[in-house]
Amino acid sequence: MTDTATTSRLFAPTRLGPLNLPNRLVMAPLTRNRAAADGSPTPLMAEYYAQRASAGLIIAEASTPNAVGQTYPNITAIHTDAHVAGWRRVTEAVAAAGGGPMFLQIQHGGRVGHPDNSGLTPVAPSPIPLPETIHTPTGRQDAVVPREMTPEDIRATVNDFAAAARRALDAGFAGVEVHSANGHLLHQFLAPNTNRRTDAYGGSVDNRVRFVVEVVDAVAAAIGRERVGLRISPGNTVNGIADTDADTLYPALLAQVATRNLAYLHIVSADPEQPLFQRIRADWPGTLIGNPVLPREQIPADGGRQAAERLLAAGADIVALGRPFLANPDLVERLRTGAPVNPVRDRYMMYVGGPTGYTDYPTLGAVR
Ligand SMILES: Cc1cc2nc3c(=O)[nH]c(=O)nc-3n(C[C@H](O)[C@H](O)[C@H](O)COP(=O)(O)O)c2cc1C
Repeated sequence: MTDTATTSRLFAPTRLGPLNLPNRLVMAPLTRNRAAADGSPTPLMAEYYAQRASAGLIIAEASTPNAVGQTYPNITAIHTDAHVAGWRRVTEAVAAAGGGPMFLQIQHGGRVGHPDNSGLTPVAPSPIPLPETIHTPTGRQDAVVPREMTPEDIRATVNDFAAAARRALDAGFAGVEVHSANGHLLHQFLAPNTNRRTDAYGGSVDNRVRFVVEVVDAVAAAIGRERVGLRISPGNTVNGIADTDADTLYPALLAQVATRNLAYLHIVSADPEQPLFQRIRADWPGTLIGNPVLPREQIPADGGRQAAERLLAAGADIVALGRPFLANPDLVERLRTGAPVNPVRDRYMMYVGGPTGYTDYPTLGAVR
């Protein structure tokens, strides 16, 4: 265990805009494909999130703001009354378990999608397909060429994000996280290898950040800027994205978004040694959530505690952990006491449905 002052900060309450968080450990958004076929959250999902109620903040998994934004089968959505009703069951279950606030991540997949999943041809900034196969109900298939978004599509999508944010609040969420990371639609507008547009949304970094800024502004106007977070993953190569000019792109994005007084900025693969992380910390005046870099194959034996503390020491205000929360419903207690953590079993048990590898990870009490 390292420096005790830093250590204790992880478990100390903090504020996030108008919200009180009981600790600084956030459950990162984790898609688990347990929704009904129409994208409505299920009772099993309510149980899963309630098990993890001791997180300082739960950022619930990527949920699509419209039909065409759907990525994979059985992902969650937030554009119909049925979606709101399903999510309300989840937020009520977490509150009943004594949980802190919840945010909902809003994600449009863009080219990460398939007609066999959404019933629609995916849309993207440019007609450049995902260079990978994609999971569908009949197995993995080659990605299709997405349709290039028209200016009308762009306006409608911005409005869909705002409407989804309103619905998220109706469902009992305290706020939303705009997903501009991991190669999904907003990231596809940012990155030069997926955005070849020649209009006001393509070309220069200032043009490529425009769509993200418009989405953030529309969502903030809909629900209040203090209820809006933004997730980015500079340099990430997931889903065939290539942030080749990250060093100029992200400062350009921050130059615009930093003035918006959002609830937080959330960085995936936040590495305190990286100059870009340090630059973003310096440029971002508000709350910074860092998701530390953990080994890919398995979570570390300490559940990510050391990495979390290093990130706090480097200037993050709050730390997000993904797989450690996936495998440990009582992660906060385990990290606080130094108890051993459950390893992740059988990869992530996506696309299989049911409780196995989902709600059956034991708590400390259960294994004592
Ligand atoms: C099963 C699984 C599902 C994920 N789903 C999402 C998601 O819905 N939205 C998102 O932004 N990131 C998603 N991620 C990325 C995580 O939020 C997190 O950034 C990543 O797992 C690294 O953190 P960790 O090492 O603590 O797990 C997912 C990761 C995993 C393993």
